[in-house]
Amino acid sequence: MTTATATDLALRMEGVRKTYQVGDEEVVALDHATLEVGGDEIIALVGPSGSGKTTLCSIAGGILAATEGSVVVGGHDITGYSAKQLTDFRREEVGFVFQSVNLVPFLTARENLLVVDEVGRRTGAKAKDRADQLLEELGLTDRANNLPGQLSGGQKQRVAIGRALMNEPSLVLFDEPTSALDTKLGDQVVHLIRDEMKARGTAAIIVTHDDRITHYADRTVHITDGRIDA
Ligand SMILES: Nc1ncnc2c1ncn2[C@@H]1O[C@H](COP(=O)(O)OP(=O)(O)OP(=O)(O)O)[C@@H](O)[C@H]1O
Ligand SMILES: [Mg+2]
Repeated sequence: MTTATATDLALRMEGVRKTYQVGDEEVVALDHATLEVGGDEIIALVGPSGSGKTTLCSIAGGILAATEGSVVVGGHDITGYSAKQLTDFRREEVGFVFQSVNLVPFLTARENLLVVDEVGRRTGAKAKDRADQLLEELGLTDRANNLPGQLSGGQKQRVAIGRALMNEPSLVLFDEPTSALDTKLGDQVVHLIRDEMKARGTAAIIVTHDDRITHYADRTVHITDGRIDA
């Protein structure tokens, strides 16, 4: 691998520690985790249940603050960001796709994409054009006006991917995007994720228990007990 300069990186996490206070006990979810993700690199993040994968994604995406260490995403050093700054940062820089798809049930596929932009930069016709372009790329043009309840599992997952791409993020975080899908659909969705990321030169972290997914990634990173394996 060629060495990337700091500005080329989609993510640079250094010495990140995250603890949760549960009653009198301190749970260490991440322990001095250091990870660099190149500007257009796709990382598979693999590890047992409870090893810290979701915590790592939440910190990389500015949902959670690290207890210690530094986090730089797409050139933004978010380490000391306030809650307000993190909200703006999330809107501009990152996309999330979670296992439980979390589409708004009373909005159509198109409206689920547009809801991102209502709070974001684009408005009106421009946002609609981008939503329709993404829906077309994702093979959902004829489902644009369907509600989530009228879509299959794979179609819902594709809407979620489209929504994550609306703001042209520098990093997309996928937390077990295929775990609710059967083998064939899971394969299709992973193919699609790879194609979409590579076409845009967008970086991604894909959390998975699924060995097949690692074949689609540029690099696999293993995590155990909150520590990234060397
Ligand atoms: N809000 C919380 N409060 C207390 N402990 C938490 C919290 N969230 C996570 N943890 C603990 O932190 C550790 C890491 O959790 P995390 O959710 O990051 O794991 P994971 O690798 O995503 O697991 P899974 O594969 O089951 O989703 C676990 O021990 C978990 O119990
Ligand atoms: Mg998890």
